Amino acid sequence: MTRSPRGLVPVLAIDRGGSRPLYRQIYEAYRDAILGGRLGAGERLPSTRGLARELGVSRFPVLTAFDQLLAEGYCESRAGAGTFVAADLAGELLGASRQAARRPAVPTGPRRVSGGPAARLRRAPFARRGSAAFSVGAVATEAFPFRVWGRLLSRQARRLAPGQVHYGETLGVPRFQRAIAAYLRTARGVRCEDDQVMVVSGSQQALDLAARALLDPDSAVWLEDPGYWGARDTAELAGARCVPVPVDAEGLDVAAGMARCPDARVAFVTPSHQFPLGVTMSAARRLLLLDWASHHGAWIVEDDYNGEYRYESQPITALQALDREARVIYVGTLSKVLSPSLRVGYVVLPEDLVDRFAALRAALDIAPPTYLQEALADFFTEGHFAGHLRRMRRLYSRRRGALIDALRGELGADVEILGEGAGLHLVLTLPEGADDLEISDLAAGAGLHVLALSSCSLGATRRRGLVLGYGGVPVDSAPEAVRRLAAILDRAHAAPRSSKGSTQARP
Ligand SMILES: Cc1ncc(COP(=O)(O)O)c(C=O)c1O
Repeated sequence: MTRSPRGLVPVLAIDRGGSRPLYRQIYEAYRDAILGGRLGAGERLPSTRGLARELGVSRFPVLTAFDQLLAEGYCESRAGAGTFVAADLAGELLGASRQAARRPAVPTGPRRVSGGPAARLRRAPFARRGSAAFSVGAVATEAFPFRVWGRLLSRQARRLAPGQVHYGETLGVPRFQRAIAAYLRTARGVRCEDDQVMVVSGSQQALDLAARALLDPDSAVWLEDPGYWGARDTAELAGARCVPVPVDAEGLDVAAGMARCPDARVAFVTPSHQFPLGVTMSAARRLLLLDWASHHGAWIVEDDYNGEYRYESQPITALQALDREARVIYVGTLSKVLSPSLRVGYVVLPEDLVDRFAALRAALDIAPPTYLQEALADFFTEGHFAGHLRRMRRLYSRRRGALIDALRGELGADVEILGEGAGLHLVLTLPEGADDLEISDLAAGAGLHVLALSSCSLGATRRRGLVLGYGGVPVDSAPEAVRRLAAILDRAHAAPRSSKGSTQARP
């Protein structure tokens, strides 16, 4: 068997009939690749033997070319290790040509792109967040179970069988489907068989699949207002007509939705901890929503993105558990309980939608990665998941307490805080007239990622407030982060008013 050489081979077409000697062709190809930035400092060149084999030439011209590259300082040889692009070549001299080689100039002339819904998408606020305090969606990354996860992954790598490096099952690895179904039945009250579970690339993909599978261009969709832009974006991409439905203290105002657009095809909701207000949908509203769906032949997409975290009572059973007509598509994610970088979520599908979702998924990216799911299945079945979840509940409960204490300490004991009973974020209400967008910008300047409540509005009414994530704010950093926030509120003349005597109803 011919082995490919270790080390990079530049694009190089040997011209045997030409006037340039072979060694010169090889030398120039490497020299141009180095000068053009296609081969970077420290990159390894192949062995002369391997390259000669790859090019179908004798070793002699390759040795001569390499000698020349070494003599002119483009390369250096390290005893016993091989030949490498010289480390000290980087400099102004190379800068311009490297830039040009890596980032081709945008040509003039027509460059046509879609003018449809994709043209209206903006990068989500999530793209801006990182580890800065109050980032919504941030989790306690340092509490990730690095050791166990590393062990499971490497064990999985050692066990990997040939069948597992082929395309995987579209719905997911059966062992992992089973583990998720068991967890959801027990912990979230979800009613499902294992084969109704589809593993997805984060709940965002589930929302996208639901929008594609259920909506026609111009179908109406109920969206919570204020609500999650991720759901809105998928509905808009599907060409649907978004109908903002207000959220009050009981969750989605179903009666308002019916008054505005009774025959919507789908309702996207976050019943456990409404995003962003943090309201839990009341039992009466849940029943009303299911009743509406039943009478209008509609679907409900339940985005249970952080239903695991509830601090003053037991987690609330999923809306799907009340559904007698299989109209709820239940969506969950490992982003908040394990890590958002895994990009693993799951959907529980009504039986009659399984094939439709599977066909769509196959058209989009065929299947979720097998190897990752095998390790995750171990993580669940060996009890690590349950233990980790317990630890994370305690940790976030402390972070939540620290943030609330700091807010009350800094801004007054009766400052109005909403949605603090569950999830990983809360909402700080602002006095009338305060500009939450301006405050969010000021905060960004001070290294705080504060989400303006009004940026989550879909309709005409723009409620003002600050959505503060605490998942990524350690207990001992909360007081300082809140002091910085309070200083910004002072500068913006927006220090929250006491809730006593406030005319603003809770959501
Ligand atoms: C309402 C809502 N749904 C879903 C998600 C999670 O998305 P994913 O599972 O794609 O990471 C988030 C992320 O913060 C969210 O706020």
